Amino acid sequence: MINRIIIAILLLVTTTAAAQTKIDRRVDSVLRLMTLEEKVGQLNQYTADGLATGPVSGDDRKDEQLRQGKVGSMLNVKGVKDTRAVQTIALQSRLRIPLLFGQDVIHGYKTTFPIPLAEAASWDLAAIEKAARVAAVEAAASGIHWTFAPMVDIGRDPRWGRVMEGAGEDTYLGSLIAAARVKGFQGKRLGDIDAVMACVKHFAAYGAAIGGRDYNSVDMSDRMLWETYLPPFKAALDAGAATFMNSFNDLNGIPATANRYLQRDILKGKWKFSGFVVSDWGSIGEMIAHGYSADGAAAAKSAILAGSDMDMESRAYRDHLVTLVKKGEVPLSIVDDAVRRILRKKFEMGLFDDPFKFCNEEREQQALNNASHKAAARDMAKKSIVLLKNENSLLPLSDTLKRIAFIGPLVKEVKQNLGFWSIEMPDDSSYIVSQWQGLRERLPANTQLTYAKGCGIADTSRGGFEEALRVAKASQLVIMSVGESRDMSGEAHSRASLQLPGVQEELIKAIHATGVPVVVVINAGRPLIFNWTADNMPAIVYSWWLGSEAGNALADVLTGDYNPSAKLPMTFPRAEGQIPIYYNHFNTGRPAASDSDRNYKSAYTDLSLSPRYAFGYGLSYTTFRYDNLQLDKKKMKAGEQISLQLKVTNTGKYAGEEVVQLYLRDRFGSVVRPVKELKDFRKISLQPGETKTVQFIINKEKLSFYNDKLQWIAEPGVFDVMVGSASDDIRVKEVIELM
Ligand code: NOJ
Repeated sequence: MINRIIIAILLLVTTTAAAQTKIDRRVDSVLRLMTLEEKVGQLNQYTADGLATGPVSGDDRKDEQLRQGKVGSMLNVKGVKDTRAVQTIALQSRLRIPLLFGQDVIHGYKTTFPIPLAEAASWDLAAIEKAARVAAVEAAASGIHWTFAPMVDIGRDPRWGRVMEGAGEDTYLGSLIAAARVKGFQGKRLGDIDAVMACVKHFAAYGAAIGGRDYNSVDMSDRMLWETYLPPFKAALDAGAATFMNSFNDLNGIPATANRYLQRDILKGKWKFSGFVVSDWGSIGEMIAHGYSADGAAAAKSAILAGSDMDMESRAYRDHLVTLVKKGEVPLSIVDDAVRRILRKKFEMGLFDDPFKFCNEEREQQALNNASHKAAARDMAKKSIVLLKNENSLLPLSDTLKRIAFIGPLVKEVKQNLGFWSIEMPDDSSYIVSQWQGLRERLPANTQLTYAKGCGIADTSRGGFEEALRVAKASQLVIMSVGESRDMSGEAHSRASLQLPGVQEELIKAIHATGVPVVVVINAGRPLIFNWTADNMPAIVYSWWLGSEAGNALADVLTGDYNPSAKLPMTFPRAEGQIPIYYNHFNTGRPAASDSDRNYKSAYTDLSLSPRYAFGYGLSYTTFRYDNLQLDKKKMKAGEQISLQLKVTNTGKYAGEEVVQLYLRDRFGSVVRPVKELKDFRKISLQPGETKTVQFIINKEKLSFYNDKLQWIAEPGVFDVMVGSASDDIRVKEVIELM
């Protein structure tokens, strides 16, 4: 058996190597025919004029440049009809090199999945991979070759609007999700009709923008970079990611776009990345504003020398690269390498064999939002909803309720549910299930469901309160749907205040004063701050943005058709002043043992140290008991491992899923170590009364970290082993030793 597996692996490796050599030969045969101008053309990417995802220059006659072979890729051209039309123009160029069509397919294409941060809350890697798979199937059927996803930036600052696009604050969870998304997008292999190239972004450290302000600078130690911010990129690369995107920020004073250390030394050097790097939108030209490059020529030179292969929208390569090569300032070999990397992907995608391979109207029709895609989106959405509070088991909704009021600015909204970075389907929103529609269709016909808006999302007027109070008073229970608008998070949407916008919390207070019990549903692209609501309301559901199946998924959870199982992938602060706040911080020399232990301690004098909700937190309609933690041994040598087992029992009335989380703490290190770090988890499902044994393996890898010489090592010593239901809810612990 083992022999057969080895033979199969060898065969696969040899076949892949042979295919690569063949592709390399074909790439070289094209490269030999190309003029310098045509080579630079391959490195140039434009957006379509109609749909922009950044500041458009839009001055130039693109058709003409396409015909002259001066464009290698387009973004934001979507749909079979349009991609076919633009490809047709590009194929009129001398060498007929096909274009690559890229698009931000971030969380679904037409079938829209929850925003990535919400998906991360599911801790369900198979569902996340499936979501990316569906997105790829639809995008590929719609003429797209390449998605600018996944974003794998670690996000520890909820003011940063882009936390919605990542997997949250944790490196371990983020790395697994990064790999799952790449596998989902790229499918079995590039070149298949349903595979799109992934683009891992933003390389690197973009998530640590100072003050949570988008595009801002990043100043970070190398150790922090390697230990916390780089691993998800490496995981995505190991999963086979075809391309990378660099980032807008400067890192320790060098813009990422011109950062040789990141792109040449780490990515293409140490990690041997053979795909290509695209700049972020205009980031090459923006190095002038950074104060790094004096003009466009200097920017182009720094970027290409640092390893940025394709110029998205800044036109710096188009305008300067030919001259730079002719003047000897940029070696031709550097340009050739970038072109090779891009052509190789075009070959791997099969575009030289058939440039219209992804252009089939019938397939497009069948793929978009079909029944199985809708089912996957609903499944992902219900798994993304976090139950934050549920006093007196107010949820799931009791069958005895006959008069329910559904109140708030988001109840009847349709497109809001898609969240930021969703692909708009102009003139069609019929496929999006609003929260009202989902709940109305699910509740029995004889349950009265009444509605009042109460206020708009950012309203300052209380004009709608009276009507809302009237509706609330006539009901047995009120469900309120409040939150941000979809465009309050996302790119360029950093916020200094994370409170519920407008008068929404005032509306919650007013409805609460009626005495009717209230369930609050919060829609957002980031952790918000809602202290009064958290303290006073009996039930709170965090729904993020759930996508096109939002209404159905929310109804699944509210009615108990699905028992919520999601866990927060990011810490929720009590106040903006606590930010950045994350669970895996260092201890300091003066840790505060509690909120009353403040004297000369590392604490705030005016606020608790604890978060509002901790990383890994999320409730279920049932309860789980953890016990019987057993280790096969308590001491291990570097080459050994410790096997750890515990029992988890469903002690409530509902079947449910639990994310069992393993945290470790290295008590003393040659550099200080975090108070705890997630090292593994299992999502298990249990019937009422059922017990399951959960096993974890602790090996040297799990005990390792980067020392001050950036060596990945495990140091002998004592480690705390903690298993729990959240980072602040450790149920069983032990101590082990590495000898
Ligand atoms: C800028 C964003 O930072 C990036 O993530 C995105 O892919 C590009 N614009 C293209 O829209």
